[in-house]
Amino acid sequence: MKRAALLGILFLAVSFVACNSESGSATGASNSDSPYAAQVDSLLSIMTLEEKIGQMNQYNGFWNVTGPVPAGDEAANKKYEHLRKGWVGSMLNVRGVENVKAVQKIAVEESRLGIPLIIGFDAIHGYKTLSPIPLAESASWDMEAIRRSAEVSAAETAASGINWTFAPMVDIGRDPRWGRVMEGAGEDPYLGSLIAVARVKGFQGDDLSDPFTIAACTKHFAGYGFAEGGKDYNTADFGTSTLYNIVLPPFKATVDADVKTFMNSFNVLNGIPATGDRFLQREILKGRWDFQGFVVSDWGSIGEMVPHGYAEDGKHAAELAANAGSDMDMESYLYVEHLAELVRNGRVDEAYITDAARRILTVKYELGLFEDPYRYCDETREQETIGKAEHQEAVLDMAKKSIVLLKNENNLLPLKKSGQRIAVIGQFANDKNSPLGSWRIAADDNTAVTLLEGLAAYPDNSITYAEGATVTVGENSFVMETAINEDDKSGFAEARRVARAADVVIMNLGEVGWQSGEGRSRVNIDLPGVQQELLEAVYEVNPNIVLVLQNGRPLALPWADENIPAIVEAWQLGTQSGNAIAQVLYGDYNPSGKMPMTTPRDKGQIPIYYNHKNTGRPVIPAPNLVFWSHYMDESNAPLYPFGHGLSYTTFQYEGLAVNPNGDGTFKVSFTLTNTGAIKGKEVAQLYIQDVAASVTRPVRELKGFEMVELAPGASQEISFTLTDTELGFYDNDGEFVVEDGMYRVFIGGSSATEYSVDFTR
Ligand code: BGC
Repeated sequence: MKRAALLGILFLAVSFVACNSESGSATGASNSDSPYAAQVDSLLSIMTLEEKIGQMNQYNGFWNVTGPVPAGDEAANKKYEHLRKGWVGSMLNVRGVENVKAVQKIAVEESRLGIPLIIGFDAIHGYKTLSPIPLAESASWDMEAIRRSAEVSAAETAASGINWTFAPMVDIGRDPRWGRVMEGAGEDPYLGSLIAVARVKGFQGDDLSDPFTIAACTKHFAGYGFAEGGKDYNTADFGTSTLYNIVLPPFKATVDADVKTFMNSFNVLNGIPATGDRFLQREILKGRWDFQGFVVSDWGSIGEMVPHGYAEDGKHAAELAANAGSDMDMESYLYVEHLAELVRNGRVDEAYITDAARRILTVKYELGLFEDPYRYCDETREQETIGKAEHQEAVLDMAKKSIVLLKNENNLLPLKKSGQRIAVIGQFANDKNSPLGSWRIAADDNTAVTLLEGLAAYPDNSITYAEGATVTVGENSFVMETAINEDDKSGFAEARRVARAADVVIMNLGEVGWQSGEGRSRVNIDLPGVQQELLEAVYEVNPNIVLVLQNGRPLALPWADENIPAIVEAWQLGTQSGNAIAQVLYGDYNPSGKMPMTTPRDKGQIPIYYNHKNTGRPVIPAPNLVFWSHYMDESNAPLYPFGHGLSYTTFQYEGLAVNPNGDGTFKVSFTLTNTGAIKGKEVAQLYIQDVAASVTRPVRELKGFEMVELAPGASQEISFTLTDTELGFYDNDGEFVVEDGMYRVFIGGSSATEYSVDFTR
């Protein structure tokens, strides 16, 4: 059937069919506020049950969609057949205009109703031009830079035919063992909410039908970041206070920012797999929060309810997921197989099916796909957009802003620009792959600027390089383990030789790009392989070391913190990595990043996070007394607290005062002064503590921050307004309450600040 004919059918449907439907009976049903409500309802009225279920079915792309299906590939043949029948609403991992066009053509031109596909993809920190990993970006505390980074990612993703990204991941992460902390915004719900919104705005822009924007997907709903032991996919177990105050706020923030889709999660929470959790999906998300978009399952997560011990078989799983509010089945194949029968047998209310299809169709309308199913399929635009210079500049800017200066004794940094003999040591300094990090499906391998390449822009110093130790002996994105060299120290002698002859040694150590991300949890959060020994061996001959860390999670490196004079957290910074690091090391960019996650001193302290509750015995009562909340063999303090990050200048906070504004709000004011010798930016942070509450509150909670740039010697008065929003919290019924009583306000450059003042509400 040709497209013109199809659009004719759709038009007729739009014109003649009333917009009422049975969906009103479904809990958390979508409403009819959408400007496309009439079109969607008209379309729904001519769809068979199977076609509606088809919208709820998402398939992964198959190898080379534009070529012939390999003989005997039954799965691929089935997908083609279902596309033709109108039984597929979405595909993921089909990318590139040519491929997307090919599958879209089948859906639009060969199926009965010609409903276009929504094409999903994990553009997590860029498409081909890569930004820093999301955790690194979060260290910038710079919402405009983060929004811009998502906008660049959207532009490249959309140019390759895709119109939906499975990002942002907004899971709060308190456990650096969990490999997916690299994909989130760290441990704090306030910062995490702002970042989540910045990302949604960057992806979706102001107009979803603009061919440079794409639909965002908030994931993973909910609790996935609390996987026990940091082991991916594991059970999450936490109380209601944590659910409402820590886990849910970033999700809710994106609903308020009009995110179009949600993804549920793999984990079980309180005995219920999130995919089958009606309370989360129907009551909270679609009910209380009035979310109008649709929920996609995580990959195969409907089927995984069987091994979870929640569903007896695939059919039962489909029933539970549909009833719980999972609108689209990603790669379980269970909706398409069982839902029609489940509806006919009365196990699933058809209202749920119609509601899910309505939600999905509405997003397709909003993307402009009904107006032009090939809206994202323009070869010229694809060529002009992907990798363009403007995008390289944006990711470089983001990369510089993501770097955190953890330590800088005796002003070892910034480096002098001439006359220096610099030894560069470590595999990563010459590695074009690892800086790309995890989750970079569309990027070409080995496309990052290395640190050595970045340093070459400063030719008046001499550079000698030694690998020192090969960290990996094989790197692959899908094999079980990235093989790490655990014993070969044959490169140590050469590393010591170049270090001995140098004024300054830059050691670029850390994790391989694939050592974090999905399914990549670690029990050790140290330097993999023989790198720690290499660091100590080089230190023996030249302690003048700048340690540049490259990693996807906070690393517990207490020896380095004690001994190495300068430490730079450079994460995995994406395509422009080496340029960004070099510009920071030489002071052409004065670092301003702040840690978005607490760094433990030792993995045994995990979970360690700044916004913890107090115990009844928080401080040592007298020297040598045992009975207080502590470890016998390690301090309670982290290595680096949440919010920590230095600059090449210094800042001083003074004059903190809190005054009532007379309208129930409070003004917090103080003066910030640049007390150093160069211009710099500081993220001034505001924390509060509700000293006594009907549900105990954390020892401090971030409730505001401002990034201020000051010339040397300059001061600025800064003020924040505390309203009920900042002072309140969710009680154990999920109700937002604000209580009278004493509050404490802390101001400073990290969550460890002790500069505080009390006030009474
Ligand atoms: C991940 C999701 C991702 C999906 C599709 C899953 O394994 O958990 O975050 O979006 O795969 O690639």
